[in-house]
Amino acid sequence: MSPSTVITEENPPVPDLSPLPPDFLWGVATSAYQIEGAVHADGRRPSIWDTFCTRPGAIDNGDTGEVACDHYHRWPQDVSLMRELGVEAYRFSVAWPRVRPDGVGPVNAAGLDFYDRLTDALLAAGIRPFVTLYHWDLPQAMQDRGGWPQRDTAEAFADYAAVVAARLGDRVTDWCTVNEPLCVAWIGHLEGRMAPGERDLGRAVHTAHHVLLGHGLATTAIRAHAAAPASIGPVLNLSPIDPASDRPADLAAARRLDGHVNRWWLDPLHGRGYPTDMVATYGVEPPVRGDDLAIIATPTDFLGVNYYFRQVAADDPDGPAPYARQVPVPDVPHTAMDWEVHPAGLERLLVEVGQEYAPPRILVTESGSAWPDVVAADGTVTDPERTDHLERHLAACAAAVNRGAPVTGYFAWSLLDNFEWAYGYDKRFGLVHVDYATQRRTLKASGARYADLIRTHQRRTATVDPVAVRG
Ligand code: IFM
Repeated sequence: MSPSTVITEENPPVPDLSPLPPDFLWGVATSAYQIEGAVHADGRRPSIWDTFCTRPGAIDNGDTGEVACDHYHRWPQDVSLMRELGVEAYRFSVAWPRVRPDGVGPVNAAGLDFYDRLTDALLAAGIRPFVTLYHWDLPQAMQDRGGWPQRDTAEAFADYAAVVAARLGDRVTDWCTVNEPLCVAWIGHLEGRMAPGERDLGRAVHTAHHVLLGHGLATTAIRAHAAAPASIGPVLNLSPIDPASDRPADLAAARRLDGHVNRWWLDPLHGRGYPTDMVATYGVEPPVRGDDLAIIATPTDFLGVNYYFRQVAADDPDGPAPYARQVPVPDVPHTAMDWEVHPAGLERLLVEVGQEYAPPRILVTESGSAWPDVVAADGTVTDPERTDHLERHLAACAAAVNRGAPVTGYFAWSLLDNFEWAYGYDKRFGLVHVDYATQRRTLKASGARYADLIRTHQRRTATVDPVAVRG
């Protein structure tokens, strides 16, 4: 910063991101059902989310993903917005029900063509595509055959992954297999707050196992079918856990919540099998067969970490598994989702996961926040809380790198305001505001700030071209 720079609200100091490696990857993320809309277009068939949205009371305001951000038709504009932001990578998901509308059986060429065009446009814009294969939109036909509690679904997922890898894998080099298996298993099958809206611990544990198995099978399928070398990883939403007090019961609750949220996924993915304390807590054995555990632990190239909040746990013997209640933290900022703003939790998570599990690389595949954005009379959206959240979470990544965590990239959630699942459209996470009535996109102040931070990092780390210096 030049000494004459005046620090104002519009021109705050750049946080110290200097520990981030020169090749740190700057990205944004979205998912298919949250932005695409066009649910009946070109041969797509319903997913479990289309069905769940019809359940009375399931989604705030009765919202659905039917139109969402109409990204299916407006993607060229969205790629231009990414160029404007200067991002280097875009993490998006492929909708299984567009590509294989019944989950198994005939491939829908028109569905694949959409992602093919998007991939080409991203590459032409200098943006690296990161493809997520499962971001929760299971074809309804698969659900009708039993869904994730059935082993067949893991196998069908790997077959679909092979189809996508065969088509895009000559250009796409970065693959996320499954997004947040915790949400699929625990929120979708135990708590019933997400599709398919079940409340059954046994089916939830079976789901967890089959989603992890699907990840392992898909990893091998991508490697077998992608023409270009593939970098592959799962994406977990993790939270550091603190006990609500030093009472032994709360300490034990914190350990169980850590098992439920973190270890249940990290342990088997890193070759440790399922944590025995959690199998005992659930009282349900995962349906492991043959070499399933080895398949789940198939070596990957990175671990994707989505971070939103830490959790504070108190004992809850009468509650549902894992018998730990989340205790709200008073007197600290909370987002519109009522999630505590706690960037130190990201630093801690990255350092601890790096030390405990030694993944080859960690990508922060999602981090972001919802706020009640207001469009000003002049059409601008000024969102200082989101900007602050963004800067502090990037600074947490830098601090983790300083402490040895192998963090190599960050994907802001999200490029666009979008369909926030059971919360509908009221919760806005975008760096770009979407007016759903007109589909007008407006870059928020936080988006402009992200662009600044990216440029600043790129300038600082640009290598001097020795030929140019010699003249
Ligand atoms: O919108 C979701 C996303 O689909 C998965 N990770 C968390 C985000 C915010 O809730």
